[in-house]
Amino acid sequence: MKEGKIVDIDPFLNAYLNKMLKEKRYLHSISVANLMFDIANSNNLENPINYYVCGLLHDVGKYLPLEEEVKIMEKYYKEYLFLPEYAYHSYTSAFLVENQLNISDLEILNAIRNHTTGNKKMSKMSKILFAADKIDPLRGYDSSKMIQNMKKDYKKGFKEVVYETKIFLKEKHNESNKLSEDMYDYYL
Ligand SMILES: [Fe+2]
Repeated sequence: MKEGKIVDIDPFLNAYLNKMLKEKRYLHSISVANLMFDIANSNNLENPINYYVCGLLHDVGKYLPLEEEVKIMEKYYKEYLFLPEYAYHSYTSAFLVENQLNISDLEILNAIRNHTTGNKKMSKMSKILFAADKIDPLRGYDSSKMIQNMKKDYKKGFKEVVYETKIFLKEKHNESNKLSEDMYDYYL
């Protein structure tokens, strides 16, 4: 079994993560969970453990075969089928968290759904997951300044991450979609 940095992850969740994820994605998930916990704590937000759980589970649908993803999207998230396929795992992950792990916390489920594209009017947890996913130290670039800013003031830090994401995706990869455009319009 793969080992995370935090040794006391609930054994059931740990086994589930090990079953669903490849090692690199498993480690990313633990890293995002730790980062979200730290950001929630340093911003004095309530229930930082919920942020940890959200980070831990945000990518559990990442390795579902595309046909399965499309089936879930067609049945439960038809209105988001227009999104690029790489965004489907946000919805399939939320679906699995709700239906296989019986987690019904809407803040957690919504944050997972929003984590790839972003959206307008995002909750605290949506903002923090979106940012933590992009600035995870395991991503392999120097994100330390953005991490520091998120810990100081997550609302300001989030805008900075949104701006950097926009530049990165639009100018370097010429990629966008309606929900990300809504987020840029709303927050920048
Ligand atoms: Fe993801």
